[in-house]
Amino acid sequence: CDRHFFGFGAFGLAMPQPVSTVRIVGYGMTALGKLRRSATELMQEALQKALQSTGLQMKDLDGLVAVPSLSHPHFMEAHFLATQVGLLPRQNVRVRTIDTGGAGPVSGLLEAVRMVKAERCQAVAVVAGDAVSSLATADFLARADQGCRDPQGLLPSPCIPNGYDQVARWQMGRSVSREQLAMVSVLMSRQAQRHPLALTKRPHSLEDVLSSRSIAPATNLLECARRADGGAAIIVASSSFMDHHLGHDVVSSKDGAVSERLGPVAASGGVVVLGGGEASGPLFPPRDIDEAMFSCEAAAQSAFSEAQLLPGDVDWFGLYDCYPVCFVRALEACGVAAKGQGGQWVEQMFKRTQSEYQPADFPINTHGGLLAFGAPWEVPAMYNIIEACEQLTGAAGPRQVPRVRRALVYGNGGIFSHSSVAILAKPV
Ligand code: CAA
Repeated sequence: CDRHFFGFGAFGLAMPQPVSTVRIVGYGMTALGKLRRSATELMQEALQKALQSTGLQMKDLDGLVAVPSLSHPHFMEAHFLATQVGLLPRQNVRVRTIDTGGAGPVSGLLEAVRMVKAERCQAVAVVAGDAVSSLATADFLARADQGCRDPQGLLPSPCIPNGYDQVARWQMGRSVSREQLAMVSVLMSRQAQRHPLALTKRPHSLEDVLSSRSIAPATNLLECARRADGGAAIIVASSSFMDHHLGHDVVSSKDGAVSERLGPVAASGGVVVLGGGEASGPLFPPRDIDEAMFSCEAAAQSAFSEAQLLPGDVDWFGLYDCYPVCFVRALEACGVAAKGQGGQWVEQMFKRTQSEYQPADFPINTHGGLLAFGAPWEVPAMYNIIEACEQLTGAAGPRQVPRVRRALVYGNGGIFSHSSVAILAKPV
């Protein structure tokens, strides 16, 4: 029985938890911007910071999941990174590369949970990093287009904005207007003002967005994911392993102030992963777009079902917003807005946040999302996870939404090609 009920008792921080509870116990991220560093360097820095925030060392990891980069791709990215940082060669270490595009960090989180539960890993890092802002635009577009170009050439370059644009125009008239799409970018720019690392330093007006350079028929520059370099990592571990690790630390610490040198997540007992779901769609939109190409609904339903929760039980949402239409569809798929009401919901929020507003007025993407925080290719869903951790542990500073008990994070890959959703909670 003892073996089955250990929590963070050593800190007296939480009620005992079953040994099978899997938690995010730490995270780390680099600066964002045009950093002129390789993706590998950014991944390594983020990983080191994530380890530091847990008090763990590289030798304590026995699992690593990596998401590949566009700027510095490697055959078997996770094996490459694990070898670079000295995690391999070593016995009983499992590493895995996951490529579900921008959904990768959430897919990686769910894979890490499986590795702890089913493969008995004790601590698994999930790492992503990219340097797409340091790539010349022509080089970036050549690589990005190659991944998503349809064989019939229906998708002109830049393929990704054009692919989302086709979906945006299909969605217009169904549940969103052109102005409501532009309002999403305004909303994200308002949210970004409260995060010190966000790239967008002043809020956009609706006019700024609608008059910014046209990239596709219904998509302007300020409605494109904001290209950036950056790295981010999380550590996933079983509660019993962390209890043992932190308990030992408490005993061996001279001043007993262990929690002071840990990040907020480890110090508060970790963030519990309650459930997750994934689903897939085509690599590029079909000639006749219909609901069958979208997968966020199915992924969210699986996550809610595993967590045995409903949308109303969630206090904070991290929704993928590479383009406004992705955000609007996510609002509906995750149950924030009723089906067909996503655009109206955005407009209401646009009005509500026009003057001074509280984080609780708009508890979604409090960091600013891909449109305004920054978007290093497949990394940004990791920022959703990290922001969720900060919200759940009361560490979000001026962005803090009061009493966040549960959070939902959504990552989207390609052009609606993969959806991964996870539901996280603070330990009880
Ligand atoms: N908000 C504020 N500023 C923005 C912005 C935004 N959303 N987007 C771009 N800008 C800024 C840039 O920072 C840049 O500012 P500086 O001149 O001060 O550096 C300026 O606007 C011009 O932008 P670019 O340098 O990027 O302009 P460009 O002409 O070289 O390229 C573009 C234009 C082709 C549209 C390019 O910006 C682009 O492709 N953007 C979209 C990136 C993208 O699609 N990412 C993937 C999203 S899909 C996804 O995330 C899923 C997945 O699986 C990866």
